[in-house]
Amino acid sequence: MKKQKTTSKSSLRPRVLVLHGPNLNLLGTREPQHYGSMTLEDINLTLARRAEIAEVDLESFQTNHEGALIERIHAAKKQEVRYIIINPAAWTHTSVAVRDALMAVSIPFIEVHLSNIYAREAFRHHSFFSDLAVGVISGLGHQGYQLALEYLLNKLNTD
Ligand code: DQA
Repeated sequence: MKKQKTTSKSSLRPRVLVLHGPNLNLLGTREPQHYGSMTLEDINLTLARRAEIAEVDLESFQTNHEGALIERIHAAKKQEVRYIIINPAAWTHTSVAVRDALMAVSIPFIEVHLSNIYAREAFRHHSFFSDLAVGVISGLGHQGYQLALEYLLNKLNTD
């Protein structure tokens, strides 16, 4: 009798989750001098296309609600997400709760900021995430997300 083909966990595509914090849904019109003119939809589309070529499952999620972000991070554990790219936006500077969620699931993540947070107001200089992150990209605009993804694709190939 012919052996039935089963899908093993290892044959599934690796998963990468991109998380965007508050107000990033307004990209394109929001303070373009800091955040550029690309919309969030365009950023997500560029990432999705690149991931597709690499045969990686990439999902993007934006929320203006802290609890929703925390719950999305919890769900990522169950979905066996391998890496997270996160721009926590204003929560970068305020949220112990989002920090704790990332620690709780222990999924490695890259922190991305469109603007250079160290060249701006003093209250933006502290991040609750940077010491936990694999790495931080700040000030390279929308390309920061693409560079973070390139790094992770390379890492997934060598893991
Ligand atoms: C940001 C920088 C944060 O200080 C700010 O609150 C944001 C966006 C960035 O991408 O440059 O909303 O994370």
